Amino acid sequence: MAEPLFLTDLVLALLLPLAGAQLGRQAGRLGTDRLPAKRWPLYALLIVVVARVAVTVLLVSDGGWVLVAQRVLLGLPVVVIPLAWALAVADRGAGAATAWHTTAMGALASSFLLFVPPGPQDTGYAALGCLVVLGASAVASRLHRARRAGAGRLARLPWQTAVAISGAVAVMAGLYITSTGGDSTHASAVDWGGGARTGEAHTYAHGAHRTAADTSTSRSVTTLTGPRNVTPDVSFDLTAAHSTVRLASGKKIDALLYNGTSPGPELRVRRGDVVEVTLHNTDVAEGVTLHWHGVDVPNAEDGVPGVTQDAVLPGGTHVYRFVPDRSGTFWYHTHRGSENTVERGLFGSLIVEEPSSGKAPAPAGGAPGGRNGTYEQTLFTHGRPGSGLAFGTEDQARRTAVRPGTSVHLRLINSSKEPQRVLIKGTTYRVTALDGNPVNRPGILRAGTDLLLAAGGRFDVSFTMPAGTVTVRPSTAETPGEAALALSPDGRGAPAHIEDGNLFDRLAYGTPGSGGGAVPSEFQRDFDLVLDNGFGFADGRFTYANTINGRLAPAVPTLMVAKGDQVRMRITNRGLVDHPTHLHGHRIRVLSRNGEAATGSPWYTDTLNVAPGESYEVAFTADNPGIWMDHCHNFAHSAEGMIMHLAYVNVTSPYHGASH
Ligand code: C2O
Ligand code: CU
Repeated sequence: MAEPLFLTDLVLALLLPLAGAQLGRQAGRLGTDRLPAKRWPLYALLIVVVARVAVTVLLVSDGGWVLVAQRVLLGLPVVVIPLAWALAVADRGAGAATAWHTTAMGALASSFLLFVPPGPQDTGYAALGCLVVLGASAVASRLHRARRAGAGRLARLPWQTAVAISGAVAVMAGLYITSTGGDSTHASAVDWGGGARTGEAHTYAHGAHRTAADTSTSRSVTTLTGPRNVTPDVSFDLTAAHSTVRLASGKKIDALLYNGTSPGPELRVRRGDVVEVTLHNTDVAEGVTLHWHGVDVPNAEDGVPGVTQDAVLPGGTHVYRFVPDRSGTFWYHTHRGSENTVERGLFGSLIVEEPSSGKAPAPAGGAPGGRNGTYEQTLFTHGRPGSGLAFGTEDQARRTAVRPGTSVHLRLINSSKEPQRVLIKGTTYRVTALDGNPVNRPGILRAGTDLLLAAGGRFDVSFTMPAGTVTVRPSTAETPGEAALALSPDGRGAPAHIEDGNLFDRLAYGTPGSGGGAVPSEFQRDFDLVLDNGFGFADGRFTYANTINGRLAPAVPTLMVAKGDQVRMRITNRGLVDHPTHLHGHRIRVLSRNGEAATGSPWYTDTLNVAPGESYEVAFTADNPGIWMDHCHNFAHSAEGMIMHLAYVNVTSPYHGASH
């Protein structure tokens, strides 16, 4: 519901300056009796403003105050107040000119605030800017009238010129703040109540990270490693190289792969194992790393070039060591040039099993498991440039035989940059884990419940194989493909057509139980993140980009925490597209969505899809010191700068360069 409202408001904000410009023209004619001013622009403006107020009211009832706060406090008053004045004095002939001119400028400012939305921490500056611009406009209008009364040279400066100059200055200032940070070095994240100390946010500069704390006690990320002096329990080698992928349809795709397979080899390990992975790069020019998505590894093992290591260039190697502390479905991928390199194939699954499960870790390249009367299958929803969405390399329907009564376990991983909807037909099922976090007493989902996988997110799905055919298929408007998996007793069942159903909602799924622990009653840090669409400079290019608190990396203020802090974040999407937010090194717990508390099994996640109009309150414990990425997992968005960092005071990084 929020999305169409956001769109409507953008269209209205396009009409505002048009009506405003007409009003400004008419204001210039007020009082010259040969050309009586027309009032229609005043009424046109009134209609647009009333419509925007109506949209705002609908938005509040839909998503709550957080979606509209800035409109109500700034975006609307900046035009409503002068408009009320302009209407009040409309009968005064030339005497109304200043009010009309100011209203025209207010209309411009109001739509500017929607197209270059300021972050919560910049609301004050934006308000000041609006006051200055409106004031300048009023003064210019007075001078403009004085000119006609025969006043001096300055008074000959027409209103239009004044508007053009002050408008241009305001626009440049707004864009400057968006893309370079302006005065963000010690910008505070906005305190949104709850009595906690407001988290400080600092600009994080690559290679020169400084915090306010005493640098004599600082640690480098290079010291925050996994166990280095023990013999690993399991080790793997992954070699990144150019290669060709052959999809099931026969289509050949120029790819970048680990060990020549797509997805890369499935790494199976046990919880508590010391895992060693040696990465080699044959010929991937931009360099490669390995990021263990969802596993809270020590910072130096996190695989973020420019922050925790240098990217591994052709001919180079890098050794990772870590001990997975939770079993579940995870994945790995490179973290350099991800929009291109992950899409082309540099990713694979990392399955962590319980040590008691008795299954020996399978060697690299693990095939679909079929052990112990269970059928297990990892399915990546993956979109490749120039081809539709596939399950791994399966871009066509695949049929496979599964005996009725078998317990089926699907591990769904979304390695594409868009959220993916997965439809299952022919059985009811349970979601047993989300992002590697088990669901406590998961309920049976009605047939026709769809799963929405965040980009980077995982669902573990279980059901008992029925006597008929079970179809699993991704459904997406973005990159439609023919991929489908049909499980049937004889392996000949054809995949069914499936209509979109209701989306699975994690908020109330499962039961609270004891496993999740209590939500802390006190938080040491509160952060407010607002995701927007706005104009700005991304990589020096002027675009309509996706911003965090009105900024693009590297201007997005870093979230500063100390070890042991309980941290609360509110993440609100005021933009038009989904943003899968992914915090490295920590799992977050969802407390509420749009004011509605999470009541099911504790909802832990590492990749939270925040849809337009959604506002989540989440919490985590700062228990893993380092400098961590917190970014949108839509790689196209992160490439443009939808990236921020979470940094522990006193941790420094010697590395430089692009981190995504
Ligand atoms: Cu899966 Cu920073 O990424
Ligand atoms: Cu995004």
